Amino acid sequence: MFRAPRNVDLSLEGGLGPTTHARSANMPTSPMEYIWPGIVAAQAIHAAAKLRIAELLASGPRSASALAAEAGADASALERLLRALSTFGIFSLTPDGSFANTPLSEQLSSGHPQSQRDAALFLPAAFLWRSVGELYESVRTGEPAFPLIFGKPFFEYLAANPQDAAVFNAAMTQGIAYTSPALLAAYDFSRFRCVVDVGGGEGALLREILSATPGLEGILFDMPQAVAQAGGVLTDNIAPRCRIVGGSFFESVPAGGDLYILKGVIHDWPDEDAVKILRTTRRAIGPAGTLLLIENVVDSADRPVGVMELLMLVIGGRERSTADFRTILAAAGFEIVRTIPAGWSTLIECRPV
Ligand SMILES: C[S@@+](CC[C@H](N)C(=O)[O-])C[C@H]1O[C@@H](n2cnc3c(N)ncnc32)[C@H](O)[C@@H]1O
Repeated sequence: MFRAPRNVDLSLEGGLGPTTHARSANMPTSPMEYIWPGIVAAQAIHAAAKLRIAELLASGPRSASALAAEAGADASALERLLRALSTFGIFSLTPDGSFANTPLSEQLSSGHPQSQRDAALFLPAAFLWRSVGELYESVRTGEPAFPLIFGKPFFEYLAANPQDAAVFNAAMTQGIAYTSPALLAAYDFSRFRCVVDVGGGEGALLREILSATPGLEGILFDMPQAVAQAGGVLTDNIAPRCRIVGGSFFESVPAGGDLYILKGVIHDWPDEDAVKILRTTRRAIGPAGTLLLIENVVDSADRPVGVMELLMLVIGGRERSTADFRTILAAAGFEIVRTIPAGWSTLIECRPV
């Protein structure tokens, strides 16, 4: 289940990042196999990531009981977990009954260059998992399941639950490692003076853009709990070119930029809220400014949205077609100038009208 389709990335405008490993014998070969073993595999990977087993195996194979003592787990149950995961090529069993890392399990280490640890902590986490578990209800009623379970909308919940917000923000930050090379290759940021990343999370995308574009200044804008970690991301030679602003894009967006980016933000919201966000951005942007949406486009010929659409359904957002984007942009005083494919997403370049 966890070998991601090639058309998705980790961030919430994409999906899981790519892996380059060979298909294991137990990987699903038909869509029905996503139910079994996928339903269990996702939680098994989540548990192993949470227990930091890959890190504990970094120095070599260890027995389940040695791992359990250090991870704070039950030895017999941990052995069952790792045996099960080894059937997917995640960890392997040594001849003496110990467990070892494999190329796939190594990706559950936070230090791995293609780490999937934050995704493994986030996607099967209770606050997302339970909502997906009510997909049937969302399809039946058309309403997001998340607020029915957690009593408030997704981002209000994160604002009130810092531990889950940290899991979410870290997963978004990790996703930028997968999406930013294609974005930087597809778009010329050097023609701008100051970029404002609205809903820019912990600042990972802004860091990549500013690192690649000498002289460009940047403003990171997101909810206070999201930008709280940004000081550790926007560091070194970028720091003097950066401003970090906490607030809500339903109230205002920092003025002063000539490029406003909304990456993976608009799809989190229904049309009414999406238009509100675009309107506050419209108030901040100058007449010659540029708005860049980075999103999935449902009717994109070569980048189908896939199951991300359903994640958005249960949390209360939606993926959109080009025509849908045109409608909400027009309602907020923007028009599309051009669309540019970039990896798993599409850049929608807009101007104020
Ligand atoms: C799906 S994440 C995308 C983050 C980042 N742009 C990326 O692509 O990785 C959506 C972002 O919107 C932010 N957000 C949600 N509600 C917000 C609000 N009212 N004001 C500002 N930012 C908000 C979240 O904190 C989160 O960082």
